Amino acid sequence: MESKEKEKEARYFSENLGLIGQSEPLLQVIESIKQVAPTNIIVLIMGESGTGKEMIAKAIHLLSMRKDKPLLTVNCGAIPEGILESELFGHEKGSFTGAVDRKMGYFEAANGGTLFLDEIGEMPLATQVKLLRVLEEKEFMRVGGNRILKVDVRVLAATNKDLEKAVNRQEFRKDLFYRLNAVKISVPPLRERKADIRPLVIHFAEDVCRENNIRFQGFTEDAFRTMEDYTWPGNIRELRNVVERVIILGKGEQVDQSTIMDHVVQIVEPDRNLPVIAHKTSDQAEREIIYRALLDIRVAVEEIRSLLLGNRVKHVGRSHIDFPFQTEVSRTEDLSSEEQQFTIREMERIEIEKALNRYKGNKRRAAKALGIGERTLYRKLKEYHIE
Ligand SMILES: Nc1ncnc2c1ncn2[C@@H]1O[C@H](COP(=O)(O)OP(=O)(O)O)[C@@H](O)[C@H]1O
Ligand SMILES: [Mg+2]
Repeated sequence: MESKEKEKEARYFSENLGLIGQSEPLLQVIESIKQVAPTNIIVLIMGESGTGKEMIAKAIHLLSMRKDKPLLTVNCGAIPEGILESELFGHEKGSFTGAVDRKMGYFEAANGGTLFLDEIGEMPLATQVKLLRVLEEKEFMRVGGNRILKVDVRVLAATNKDLEKAVNRQEFRKDLFYRLNAVKISVPPLRERKADIRPLVIHFAEDVCRENNIRFQGFTEDAFRTMEDYTWPGNIRELRNVVERVIILGKGEQVDQSTIMDHVVQIVEPDRNLPVIAHKTSDQAEREIIYRALLDIRVAVEEIRSLLLGNRVKHVGRSHIDFPFQTEVSRTEDLSSEEQQFTIREMERIEIEKALNRYKGNKRRAAKALGIGERTLYRKLKEYHIE
């Protein structure tokens, strides 16, 4: 394809599907998405964690004829064995202890649409057999049922595991592997598509500034270069976190190289061609992880403070956010930070409300953003009486 045309394509994907990037490997991924989207082919999306596999699945769905039907995601690694099967295929009343009602599974719920099986490499062998049957015959039975149900579901799958190795270790069925492996999209890690880093950074910076009402002085060239040189083991997810953190902690001040260095975990790989500065001991690495966790807390506290005191008092006043200490807020507006004492529970509650607002009530995404399980989120919503 002409490079002009490719550019146009990349712009379309960025503006309409939120998929940012212009590197050659990403353009190839975009090309594959376009090819497979209009078909019903099963697609296996492979790549490290945080490379954008879920986003790609979404893009495929949105560019398909099924776009007005549901796209459902099942994380096969997060659901305990035994429950996964009934989640996928549903169950009949009384089919096992606790099955007090008949329940529809994901395959039925996604009928006409797309089902995204994330972390398929974690799927238990017994469930794999059943999955293969749906893929081949387009039919299945509910757990404890005896009626054959037919469905029209397009399946997309993702993994960060080498499935071939899993097959060799007999953790993954060979027949299912061949079935899934027909069409593959490999998403390269961020360190292999450095040309995407700058546009991603700018995109995430715009997001965080808009959401937090920050006027940002930008990054220095050095800062960009440091980000382009870093290995990003957590890929785009890590990049986004770092961008958000440096901007919020710096309150919009210009971000330079040393600030970036402070926020990325420098694990020097001994086999790289760089002069080895110092190979970190596990002690040092551990300390860095703790340091990063502390930084995360600091960001949270900063956000809460600006939320309560600064430009977002309006937000606090919104009727559906019923803060237990709302009246205090107006009184404490010019107290110094030492006098601002919130309990962990209050902070947690605020973070949850914020995440829910940000994702317009979508609990799955809110839980993901908060780094907690969906079940934990439900428990906390109940605990804090959040609607
Ligand atoms: N090309 C991209 N452009 C913009 N954001 C992206 C891109 N790829 C990934 N992201 C963002 O990075 C984060 C991780 O992506 P996700 O699709 O969940 O990765 P994975 O499923 O591979 O772990 C998400 O917040 C996602 O929105
Ligand atoms: Mg994922």
